[in-house]
Amino acid sequence: MKGTSFSFINLYKLTYPLFKNIAFGMDAERAHELTIHSMKAIGNFLPDHSVDPRFAIKAMGMTFSNPIGLAAGLDKNAEAIAFLTHLPFGFVEVGTVTPKAQAGNDKPRLFRYVEEESLRNRMGFNNQGSEAVLENLLKANKRGKIVGVNLGKNKVTSNEDAPSDYAYLYTQFAEHADYLVINVSSPNTPGLRDLLKDAGLRQIFEAVDVERKKFTKPLLVKVSPDMALEELASVVGLVNEYKLDGIIATNTTIMKERGEGGVSGKLLTTKARETREFLLKEIKNTNSQCELIGVGGISKFSDLMDFWKAGGKLTQVYSGFVFQGPPLLYNFEAELAQEFKKRGVKTFEEFLHSVKFN
Ligand SMILES: Cc1cc2nc3c(=O)[nH]c(=O)nc-3n(C[C@H](O)[C@H](O)[C@H](O)COP(=O)(O)O)c2cc1C
Repeated sequence: MKGTSFSFINLYKLTYPLFKNIAFGMDAERAHELTIHSMKAIGNFLPDHSVDPRFAIKAMGMTFSNPIGLAAGLDKNAEAIAFLTHLPFGFVEVGTVTPKAQAGNDKPRLFRYVEEESLRNRMGFNNQGSEAVLENLLKANKRGKIVGVNLGKNKVTSNEDAPSDYAYLYTQFAEHADYLVINVSSPNTPGLRDLLKDAGLRQIFEAVDVERKKFTKPLLVKVSPDMALEELASVVGLVNEYKLDGIIATNTTIMKERGEGGVSGKLLTTKARETREFLLKEIKNTNSQCELIGVGGISKFSDLMDFWKAGGKLTQVYSGFVFQGPPLLYNFEAELAQEFKKRGVKTFEEFLHSVKFN
């Protein structure tokens, strides 16, 4: 069913404030669980969103219907794909999935800073395990959209054994996901971020590379905004050496004064933007072919423009979507259409070219 989006814009604009009032009155994780349940219940009954064909963009050998995707961690178990792909997301990333199911850290572990449109979480990769997630992915209605899977190691797996967790997950999902992400940047699994350092990451890339030679799928690595510049440069070097398809920047940031876990949303904007801008320069300077997916603190159209002006293309949102709901995406589409008109461009490639030079 196409062409019904107009009524959905209005429906979401009307209902999201009411929904948010109720959801934000509850414990944050409880609200999240109920939202996933509802998305799961109604997803298959909703129509496709009619995408403006001018927003289509090619990257990593795939065509994205628009450049704004959903970041990992909202649909950890691939349960709400039909609902999420009904919205104007160009792509959806599910996970983080680990080989075995795990409960994650003790609750409470998800906190809101409403005034600052930010979240802090110390979830710890709670998920149903790769077998169950794969089953959900296989039966999901993706509406022809791109669905990536974000991969993580189990808490009980030592850092020395981490490469085998990632290689196992790559093999399990490569045939069924559109792209895969090696996630070693969550602050909530003890010692995980140590794997972002050169030696740890090299071993993971090496192990996954063996599997990639048998079956190739776009592969990315997700980085932290708390890394030193030389560490980020070394990730770009390894990405080039192992011919990964992209980097996702960034995961959440540690703000000790706020408590344990990682902070996302507006409180992350500046740090994530600086990390992305450094990476974009490094990618250019090393003549790298890799893509940079920009995520972290994107909550308004000017954040997208900042990323596109710096040379980026694909983006993702999470916290902005929690605070503003589906209207955020419809507004992004409307604002993008306005920019196309203002600049007299007809394709997203032309648009990117135009923003880079004025
Ligand atoms: C509650 C919550 C859970 C998350 N879980 C994951 C996860 O499992 N894997 C992952 O790679 N990122 C996870 N993230 C990080 C997001 O994907 C994203 O990188 C981060 O929130 C920054 O984007 P934002 O400012 O738009 O929220 C999580 C974020 C939140 C708020």
